[in-house]
Amino acid sequence: MERTISIAIDGPAAAGKSTVAKILAEDYSYLYIDTGAMYRALTYMVLKKNEDLENEAAVKEILSDAHIELVPSESGQLVFVNGENVTEQIRSHEVTNSVSIAAKHASVREEMVKRQQDMAVNGRVVMDGRDIGTHVLPNAEVKIFLRASVTERAKRRHEENLSKGFTSDLAQLELEIERRDKLDSEREVAPLKKAEDAVEIDTTSLSIQGVVDEIKKIVQERL
Ligand code: CDP
Ligand code: CDP
Repeated sequence: MERTISIAIDGPAAAGKSTVAKILAEDYSYLYIDTGAMYRALTYMVLKKNEDLENEAAVKEILSDAHIELVPSESGQLVFVNGENVTEQIRSHEVTNSVSIAAKHASVREEMVKRQQDMAVNGRVVMDGRDIGTHVLPNAEVKIFLRASVTERAKRRHEENLSKGFTSDLAQLELEIERRDKLDSEREVAPLKKAEDAVEIDTTSLSIQGVVDEIKKIVQERL
């Protein structure tokens, strides 16, 4: 029987995690789990309820009542909270710039990690986030840490916005990405960090296919 593995992909904002994770999941017929979408869905709920993101107990309570579902579809992954389709709302500027605050709370992370581990219990997953290789799937057979210069990452997000018909200020995007990376890397609980046994890939001058090919080589070695 063919061996199945789990693939953990971590890295800072716009390093290309979700793009390559989706391609790998499709090519291997694995389940793709976007853990960032779960923190985004929670943040959306907290903002909707006008609750203070800094208030750990309040944020945790909202999470306890939030049934978050990641549903694959032809048009990509859909995200539902308590039955409400929030796929587009969780990508808003407001959510993007607030999510690192909701994600810093220890009790919130504990619950999220539990849910994510339950989703991955049967293996055959590609999971992307910030703490997958270090905390969520510490035994993943393949761990990848993607990097790219902040200038390149801001440019990618800028172009992504343009392709969706939005304009954005490149310099402002760069500042926002730097701020979020700093919050994610410096928080006390499970900060963004390369796992010791992760393979680091600098994607600054690589195409998406170039990154996918590098990861596939590593997967082949492990299979
Ligand atoms: O796609 P992008 O890089 O913009 O971010 P994301 O993966 O959607 O994650 C949004 C935010 O959720 C991150 O900036 C982190 O604050 C948080 N996050 C986390 O703390 N741990 C994870 N495993 C995934 C996301
Ligand atoms: O998930 P994460 O925030 O790490 O990044 P992403 O949403 O997968 O990628 C951000 C943007 O960069 C997307 O529009 C990708 O198409 C693009 N990208 C790229 O141009 N070159 C790469 N090597 C990887 C991603």
